[in-house]
Amino acid sequence: MSHSANLLPPGNLGLPLIGESWQFLTDPNFVKKREQKYGKIFKTHLLGRPTVVMMGAEANRLILSSHFDHFSWRDGWPATFKELLGNSLFLQEGLEHRRNRKLLMPAFHGPALNNYIQTMEDIMQRYFAQWEAKEYLSWYDQLKQMTFEVASILLLGSEPGEMTQKLSDEFAKLSKGLLAVPLSFPWTTYGKAIKARNIILSHVQKVIEERQKNPKNDALGLLVQSQDEEGNHLSPEEIQVQAFLMLFAGHETTTSMLSSFCLALAQHPQILKRAREEQNSLEIADGLTLEALRNMPYLEQIFKEVERLYPAVAGGFRGVVKPFIFNGYHVPANWQVLYRSEGAHRDPNIYTNVEEFDPDRFSPERAENKKVEYSLVGFGGGPRSCLGMAFAQMEMKIFACYLLRNYAWEISPEQDLTLDPIPTLHPRSGLKVRFNRYN
Ligand code: HEM
Repeated sequence: MSHSANLLPPGNLGLPLIGESWQFLTDPNFVKKREQKYGKIFKTHLLGRPTVVMMGAEANRLILSSHFDHFSWRDGWPATFKELLGNSLFLQEGLEHRRNRKLLMPAFHGPALNNYIQTMEDIMQRYFAQWEAKEYLSWYDQLKQMTFEVASILLLGSEPGEMTQKLSDEFAKLSKGLLAVPLSFPWTTYGKAIKARNIILSHVQKVIEERQKNPKNDALGLLVQSQDEEGNHLSPEEIQVQAFLMLFAGHETTTSMLSSFCLALAQHPQILKRAREEQNSLEIADGLTLEALRNMPYLEQIFKEVERLYPAVAGGFRGVVKPFIFNGYHVPANWQVLYRSEGAHRDPNIYTNVEEFDPDRFSPERAENKKVEYSLVGFGGGPRSCLGMAFAQMEMKIFACYLLRNYAWEISPEQDLTLDPIPTLHPRSGLKVRFNRYN
């Protein structure tokens, strides 16, 4: 790689200070329009910093893997995130990040996942019964409440009922603070977010003390027990902020994918029919197991297609710590880069009929995502890919199994199904449906 050229990418830095942030936050086609005008790499100015947007599988590979050491995750987050999310995995780099990722991993992968199935099933069955009784509902908010409950029971050790509701309210205040003006007074949105964070953290602290005395196999219990081969473990303060981050990283993203899954199946009856047939062909007695969940290839293809066409997270920012050249253009240090999943997910050189919802593109015969590396990045990629991917995929599959076997849902007419991308992809109208038992 040469640094001789110093030709900046084409594009427009916009207004002084605010750059093009307003357009970025309000126009869902911001990136598409500029990609059409300038190509796969262009400059702009977003959220306070000059930014280079890089599109496509090759850009993903460079940012997520081959030039990993040229970027800082920490510098990719605004100051509000740094304060509200504390020194958790999102903001850690290098050795500290590697050590902590390794200590966190066992609670979200492999055999540990078995411990969570029953809790997830119990919570979901309760929600399904409530929805059936209601018949008409705004599904997005309900799904969000359900995924919050799953995460807060497994990660924060909350009990179903009043306490989970209290934590959910505090969490909502915290989320509002992430994009607020960082002025911390008791009456400001940001001040309320900091107070909410402290309430949640002190709750988690109490539960950690309990788990230390009486070990339990929920995710929080496993984090308390986690140790690497050198005897490193997470301190109670570290567990507090990391568990809190997992709740933040996991629940809206999972909600987004579940709601896109429900919407896509309602819009594609033939695909829904095949998904139901697959479920009915499986001989599953009472209660799901990891083994049974691994054996649903068509359902997996559908979730991959949801990930491709409706990625919950649109991409990721990184601070540039070392300059580099991409497609002949110079990307300077101290700028930031943004990779966008749509750059690869809707690339007609990789995927056929890119706009079509077609789970068969992921069948073993076609495997369109296998032709080019980093062409499916809905969970990121490389050393900092999503830590909760296996956890989320299991949660989504359990939900889908019960939904497909037992229920029918129809999208209510006259609602705006436009998908808004911020903070995670969600239907503008909240996904109003009629929900019934299927058979
Ligand atoms: C469907 C649900 C989910 C989606 C679509 C999703 C997506 C992503 C993406 C795209 C990234 C990489 C972002 C980037 O490159 O800038 C990421 C990272 C991460 N995710 Fe997820 N996520 C999901 C669920 C979860 C869950 C359930 C957890 C926790 C239990 C979680 C924890 C994390 C963490 C900790 C990272 C940062 C990893 C690191 O820096 O090493 N995610 N996720």
